[in-house]
Amino acid sequence: MKSKLEKKDSDEDDLDEGVRNKPKIQGEERHRWAQIVHQSSEAIVGSAKDISANYFTVESKWRRCKPENIEISRNKKAVAGWRMIEQLPIYTSPLFFGAAFLLFRWYKSPSACSKKLPPSPPWLPVIGNLYQLGALVHHSFLSLSRRYGDSLMLLYIGSVPSLVVSSTEAAHEIMKTHDIAFASRPNTRMFRTISYNLKEITVAPYGEYWRQAKSILTLQLLSNKKVQSFNGLREKVIADCVDKITQCYLSNNPADLSDLFSSLTNDVTCMVTFGRTYNEGEIGKKFKKILQEFSEVLGSFYFEDSIPQLAVVDRLRGLTAKVDRVAADFDEFLQGVVDETITKLSNNPDRIGEDGVETFIEGLLKVQKEDINGITIDADVIKALLLDAYVAGTDTSSSVLEWAMTELLLHPDTLKKVQDEVRMVLKGKKDISDEDLDQMRYLKAVIMETTRLHPPLPILPPRVARHDVKVMGYDIAEGTRVYVNVYAIMRDPKVWENAETFLPERFLESSIDFVRHNYELLTFGAGRRSCPGRVFAMAINEKVLATVLSKFDWSLPQGVMPKDVNMDETVGLANHRMVPILAHGKPVSIVNY
Ligand code: HEM
Repeated sequence: MKSKLEKKDSDEDDLDEGVRNKPKIQGEERHRWAQIVHQSSEAIVGSAKDISANYFTVESKWRRCKPENIEISRNKKAVAGWRMIEQLPIYTSPLFFGAAFLLFRWYKSPSACSKKLPPSPPWLPVIGNLYQLGALVHHSFLSLSRRYGDSLMLLYIGSVPSLVVSSTEAAHEIMKTHDIAFASRPNTRMFRTISYNLKEITVAPYGEYWRQAKSILTLQLLSNKKVQSFNGLREKVIADCVDKITQCYLSNNPADLSDLFSSLTNDVTCMVTFGRTYNEGEIGKKFKKILQEFSEVLGSFYFEDSIPQLAVVDRLRGLTAKVDRVAADFDEFLQGVVDETITKLSNNPDRIGEDGVETFIEGLLKVQKEDINGITIDADVIKALLLDAYVAGTDTSSSVLEWAMTELLLHPDTLKKVQDEVRMVLKGKKDISDEDLDQMRYLKAVIMETTRLHPPLPILPPRVARHDVKVMGYDIAEGTRVYVNVYAIMRDPKVWENAETFLPERFLESSIDFVRHNYELLTFGAGRRSCPGRVFAMAINEKVLATVLSKFDWSLPQGVMPKDVNMDETVGLANHRMVPILAHGKPVSIVNY
């Protein structure tokens, strides 16, 4: 019987059936395609004025390159071409005939080129390889990379050259050997609009602002000392979650763990970032709506950023207006949080945060006053950093928790083993200290293994080549976007034995962890752009899991067998379960263990 992943892959294979026999375009043949993409875009849209500087830089550099090594019969290409066109409503007949003409020209022009490009699947004019990408892009990348380039693969996402990285060796090259060359993020309209003109750290271009802002975030929110100071706040929120699970048990209902963990991480992040939660009343409703819309626009395909010639489509379908409105709504919300904090502080200047803890917003306002870091911290920088902390920290952590409990419920032996460890370390103690967590090696292994199979960010936020660079012998041009598919790397059978199996034991016998790895465990990324929130996130994840495992005995709802549990994913701000995970948590009397 096929595993879930195999099934997914084969589903995608079916989808791609028409292009199954497509040629593996090798060497410089793709450059000719680049020309085709470009020329046909011009022909179809009638103007190349809107084409981004990014694309022009790349395309013009390689304009002279010509195809070679054409392997496939024309007949097969024609069949593949028809199937693609059938699948694409965007393909109107003039466009098709333009493309056919260009394809014809492509057949007739073999020649040599000085650039060596990574392998890639054939792409179509204007849309590039978009027709091969499904809703779960990490699955599409994995399946394409297995066919075309299992280390490095060059795709065109619209007209944007995009390097897909799918092996530990290639990840090492990108995030270690050439880390500085790839230390920037793409400058897109979507990012500019929703991130205060690239002031959010996650999307900020590499440079002094990014460096200083990241160090402020680390000092004011994410340092070990700060993380410890939030212990009390975390415990309050976790206790609340324990009460809710108990209530579910008493009312004989399964607990919706996906929902509970989402509220929990949301509350913890809000408390430490903004100093209060936002889940009640009108403001709670408004915040929820903003978050939902924020996630929606981030998940939308924005033509302007990938096919600039078709930017008008974004305007026609109202997406441009929606992105602008969501950014304005979030700004209004964050401004309200800032104003409220300023008023609170002015009424009581001696007050130090919630429960004696300085929250992130208070720390930021202090830094702004004292001009500590020598960069101008204006209102937009404060709001951008609040947004960073909130968006980067909430969904990612709840994703880890829901997938961890899912895997444990599907693997009762592992569940028992981790529960035994947690209970043995705690020996009936009510509170869990950091020292206790340090002793829970198997619990840590469960979390690592969960993120190996279900990385909250299956593709790292895109990087961009800051200049031309040679990677593994291939020429990568300035402006190329880089997508590190950690989902593929963390399931690579060449690196992981029984790669598809949930097996936390593998981490007990190895020295690999989130910090000491050789680019095979990339849950938090690596290099200069790696995640600064690992300690903060693990403090929540470990404590929450240890708590629910020590206080409850878990089982799937009555009548539900492990094989019935739907494992489909959906990607919003992070990779979540498509269907919430429900489970019965039977409270365990502390004296019983
Ligand atoms: C389980 C929880 C988390 C996971 C799995 C996670 C994962 C990641 C990953 C994969 C990246 C990209 C790294 C790269 O490009 O190499 C990233 C970046 C980032 N994360 Fe996290 N993260 C988590 C929690 C947090 C938290 C709690 C915060 C802060 C409150 C945070 C703040 C950031 C920031 C600011 C960046 C951008 C760094 C940069 O571009 O320089 N993350 N995270």
